[in-house]
Amino acid sequence: MKKKVALVTGAGRGIGLGIAKRLAAEGCDVVVCDIHEERAVSGALEELEALGAAALYCRADVTSPEARAGMLAAVRKRFGRLNVLVNNAGVAPKVRADILEASEESYEWVMKINLQGPYFLTQAVANWLVEQRKADQAFDGCIVNVSSISATVASPSRGEYCISKAGVSMATRLWAVRLAEYGIPVYEIRPGIIETPMTAAVKEKYDKLIGEGLLLQQRWGQPEDIGKAVAMMVRGDIAYSTGQVVMVDGGFSIARL
Ligand SMILES: NC(=O)c1ccc[n+]([C@@H]2O[C@H](COP(=O)([O-])OP(=O)(O)OC[C@H]3O[C@@H](n4cnc5c(N)ncnc54)[C@H](O)[C@@H]3O)[C@@H](O)[C@H]2O)c1
Repeated sequence: MKKKVALVTGAGRGIGLGIAKRLAAEGCDVVVCDIHEERAVSGALEELEALGAAALYCRADVTSPEARAGMLAAVRKRFGRLNVLVNNAGVAPKVRADILEASEESYEWVMKINLQGPYFLTQAVANWLVEQRKADQAFDGCIVNVSSISATVASPSRGEYCISKAGVSMATRLWAVRLAEYGIPVYEIRPGIIETPMTAAVKEKYDKLIGEGLLLQQRWGQPEDIGKAVAMMVRGDIAYSTGQVVMVDGGFSIARL
């Protein structure tokens, strides 16, 4: 059987790399999309290859239509197929600013990377997945969106981030509806507080909150926690659950009294 090919955006580090490593360990070939120079991700690519994957690096900004098209052309050339898209690349605002003052520039930057770019990458990939499915009824593909607990938890010091992640949540449902007739499920993962370069700047704050009992499971989430959840989706373990959200948040979202 041919190996599945999985494209993970923002897989040069952090959660995306955790996802890519888990998928590689489970027998997928992996396309790593990120914006760094190739030498900055060479260690990551070596790790993926050591896990048995063929790893292709595409230096592509998800906000650029040309870069997205170039990346998919490179995947077609190298593998001739694509089974899985994981929309993981995302950014937090460069500065946390009160929504009474936050800038339009930051809003546009965050929305473009977290919502608009992934939406149109999904559109291009979805058309390719449908094409493959029409050619082969046994074709097995899925799409996974990485949103955040911020899709529903309001943080007025980073409103643009919360709005972008709420948008990712609706995008998940839209694509689930549109692709259902082709047997292509679309899922969403909502991570809680995960230890990555993105959260390095707020490590002390969250160490304290976690120590004080913020989470039911008293530890930081790790990239491999997200990787395991994505692997479950890619394996087809929850194939009858298209459009659903899987929380990976250590129990954060359970309201308590
Ligand atoms: N870390 C957390 O606590 C946490 C919690 C909830 C959700 N998330 C989400 O998980 C995803 C990954 O976060 P992370 O913590 O690993 O962040 P990170 O900053 O450590 O890694 C993100 C990666 O995405 C890449 N990237 C950024 N902009 C890009 C673009 N335009 N095109 C392609 N790649 C781009 C970066 O270069 C980086 O390698 C993000 O969508 C984030 O919003 C993170």
